[in-house]
Amino acid sequence: MSTPAAEHAPGLASADGVAARARGLTKAYGSGETAVLALDSVDVDIARGRFTAVMGPSGSGKSTLMHCLAGLDSVSSGQVWLGDTEITGLKERELTRLRRDRIGFMFQSFNLIPTLNALENITLPMDIAGQRPDQKWLDQVIDTLGLRDRLRHRPSQLSGGQQQRVACARALASRPELIFADEPTGNLDSRAGLEVLGFLREAVDGLGQTVVMVTHDPGAAAHSDLVLFLGDGRLVDEMARPTAEAVLERMKRFDVIRRQHDDGAPAQGD
Ligand SMILES: Nc1ncnc2c1ncn2[C@@H]1O[C@H](COP(=O)(O)OP(=O)(O)O)[C@@H](O)[C@H]1O
Ligand SMILES: [Mg+2]
Repeated sequence: MSTPAAEHAPGLASADGVAARARGLTKAYGSGETAVLALDSVDVDIARGRFTAVMGPSGSGKSTLMHCLAGLDSVSSGQVWLGDTEITGLKERELTRLRRDRIGFMFQSFNLIPTLNALENITLPMDIAGQRPDQKWLDQVIDTLGLRDRLRHRPSQLSGGQQQRVACARALASRPELIFADEPTGNLDSRAGLEVLGFLREAVDGLGQTVVMVTHDPGAAAHSDLVLFLGDGRLVDEMARPTAEAVLERMKRFDVIRRQHDDGAPAQGD
């Protein structure tokens, strides 16, 4: 059975709210002959209260898209909004405040401070900002992530999965409008990875958060509500209610372009 043709361009879903939006987002690195066009006029809406995954081959612009949407990197042209705020054109100080107050981040490396315990790591961004955490929310996050009995442990006393859960709690602590996660399971074994994906899912379903996750893993993308596919800096496709199999099949179409002399290694049944 074939899916009906999308009634809109990839990435432009009509949703009950838009957490972030980009129009004509273009990012070039370098200039002249060595210039790399990492993003080529991307239009995208990130739906509020949803879990969106961004996929694409290595070098397709996934991290750059995340960095530009999050105001971590400047754009070459185009516009980006977080909620109703246009962030392109903001001064660095305003951007810093906006990131601090409205966005949560998770990265492949957990980026925890080794000398601080889990709780101190979780509240560090708010401590730096001079904000007091909403204790009820913080408790809910800590319990949702199953970190209650690990709060006094330092990162070195935690497993990789637990460290990433702390990083997840840190991203959630200030109840940001939007959480960006770049390959959050990239340093985890599959079991710990599954656990973290489950918690991101729960952050959306149970806590009403909005999550954008960059990944190259079809199994990870299958936990999302919508997968956006990037190819050579363009948004080329989207898939709602993804399964790992369907995402893998879609990704293979990128591989066909890349691998001309594939010997046809078995991909089925393990
Ligand atoms: N700081 C940078 N300087 C120069 N080129 C970069 C930089 N960051 C990314 N690129 C290039 O931009 C393209 C997209 O990179 P990236 O967004 O990291 O892709 P992905 O996350 O999908 O692997 C790649 O060709 C990459 O080499
Ligand atoms: Mg990347």
